[in-house]
Parts: sequence; structure tokens; C-alpha cells
Amino acid sequence: MCWNNRLMDVKEANWFQLAKSMSMIKKMNVLDLPFLFAPSCLYILILRCDQLTMPLAKVQFYLQFEQTMCHSIVIQHKTTSSIPNVGLQVWSTALMLADFVLHTIFTSSDFNDAIVLELGAGTGLVGILLARVARSVYLTDIDEEILENCSTNVHLNSKMYLHGESSIHVRELNWNNSWPPEVHCCDDPSLRTKYSWSLSEIQEVEGALVLLAADVIYSDDLTHSFFDTVGKLMEQGSRKVLYLCLEKRYNFSLDELDVVANGYSHFRKYFIDEEDYNSTNGSIMPCFIGRRIDISQIPQFIPEYSRGEDLELWKIHRFH
Ligand SMILES: C[S@@+](CC[C@H](N)C(=O)[O-])C[C@H]1O[C@@H](n2cnc3c(N)ncnc32)[C@H](O)[C@@H]1O
Repeated sequence: MCWNNRLMDVKEANWFQLAKSMSMIKKMNVLDLPFLFAPSCLYILILRCDQLTMPLAKVQFYLQFEQTMCHSIVIQHKTTSSIPNVGLQVWSTALMLADFVLHTIFTSSDFNDAIVLELGAGTGLVGILLARVARSVYLTDIDEEILENCSTNVHLNSKMYLHGESSIHVRELNWNNSWPPEVHCCDDPSLRTKYSWSLSEIQEVEGALVLLAADVIYSDDLTHSFFDTVGKLMEQGSRKVLYLCLEKRYNFSLDELDVVANGYSHFRKYFIDEEDYNSTNGSIMPCFIGRRIDISQIPQFIPEYSRGEDLELWKIHRFH
């Protein structure tokens, strides 16, 4: 099966009927479903559930590929969260990274058969989309509840993965403990804890080409641990690239008596912008190099977030 990128003669009304006839939607209120007719015959519906009666809302993305087939991507998530469980919510940056992943899938074979690791995956949306074409996807995070919810989302979408559900792994990876994570001594799945790593999985990830992360830049200490982990991952095995989507957040600073994006300035110290590379004259440089991706070139398939100036997407490598 492959994603179909051709224009098709399907009227929005027909599509709406098709969606309504799907049993999962029938159980829910479909009266005010916003939906999008995207130029590449990709259809995405975001279904809003009654947030008062459901502790976790489900966002459904209906993706149509091929003439008659329709896949829904169901993401169970919270609509609000506090700092310890931010990973239960879908953040705008994840939606933007999802748009980038969809666009790349539709326009290139860059992610085909890839091994991918997502850091701070939260609900797992981005990695779940990628598993449509990738060989193996690792969704990593911390905290039992977040990993459990991510795991549920992986299962909810099990029909969609190119290589089946066993090709998508939810694993614990705490940046404060860097890389590699502690290995469970045995590769026998029955003897391992649910989110622990086996040696063969660590080896597979070290051969990955793609790392992903969305909305992981919000505390200077965490940013440091994050880049430490990414650096260690990039030191091992194949040459990897990190696609990182972030939101620039502004706070009032008493020191500067101004509204500033200090977290963002701290983040920018970890790598050099490709554009400034030639003007460094051999001065001390960070060990990463980055290029900002022009998101205006990426169609917005998912309408449920606004792409303000503060959302950025970076492609980051390590100097070798
Ligand atoms: C703002 S959420 C973003 C979640 C998801 N990527 C998204 O954009 O919807 C930040 C994520 O980083 C994870 N995180 C925070 N501290 C971490 C750490 N020390 N190691 C690994 N993940 C961490 C959180 O659990 C959470 O899932």
C-alpha cells in the first residue's frame, strides 16, 4: 500500500458521507465536524469529543489514500495539562511537525523504510504517522502515564503501520540519564519491563537516520540534557539528522525589564546556523549545525493550530 498523492474527483459532500458512515464516527456527535479538503487528495478531519464527559479527548485525523480506502488516525490526549504531564497533551508544534512529516511522505521517499526515534514523543502522533512508511519507529518519553497513553495511541492505530504494530516501540528515555539507556539483560520480551530497552533495540536506534522532537525546548536545564542525549545518539552508528519543532515562548524578565524569549536564546547556543557557518573564522563552535526550514513551503494539512511567527522547524546535524 502506498499513500496516493494524485488529485481525485471526490466531492467534499461525498467525503463527509463516507466519514459519517464509518462506525467510529457514528457513535459520536458529527454535527460540527470541521474538515479540510487538501489539494493532494489528503483528507483530514479533526473530531472534537465532548470534553466534559471524556477525561481524554480523541482527535481523529482521517487520511484518505487510494480511491476508496480511508484511514483514521486516532490520538487520545488531554486538552489541558500541568508540567508533570505535559506529554498527555498534543502541542501545536507536534501538529506542525506532523504537517512536515506528511508533506515529506507525499513528496519524497526520505522516510521510506527509515528507522526513526522521537524524543519527548508525548501522545505519539508524529511517530505514529511516520510508521505508515517507516521500517521501525521508537517513541520515547518519561513517566508511566505518558508512556501508557502513547502505547494506547499506538494500539488504536495498529491497522495503519507498514510493518505492523511490532515495528513501533514505546520506550522510556530520560534525557537526564542520557544515552544509552539502561539495558534489560535479556532480549526475551517476556522478561522485560514494558518500556525498557533490549540491546538489539539500542543497536537498531544507533543505526537510525532520523530523530524527531516537538516542543521539548521550555527549560534551560532540560535543553541541556536534551542536546547531551542527542549528541550521544549522533555520535553512535549512522549519521543522523534531527528535525526539531519548537515554539518560541516569551516571558517578562526582571533583569532585562523586557519581554524576552530567554529559553529560545539558550537553545540557539547549542548549534550554529548554517547561514553563519562561513563567518565563524575558526572561532570556538558548538558541536551542532542547524538550518531553519521554511515552513511557508509546507502545506498545512492539519487546520487545528495557527502557524504564527513563533513556531519554528529546525534541521540539525552534528559536526563529525
Ligand atoms: C511539551 S511536551 C511535548 C510533547 C509532544 N512532543 C508534543 O509536542 O505534543 C514535552 C515532552 O517532553 C517530555 N520530557 C520532559 N522531560 C523529559 C526528560 N527528562 N526526558 C525525556 N522526555 C522528557 C515530556 O514528558 C513531554 O512528553
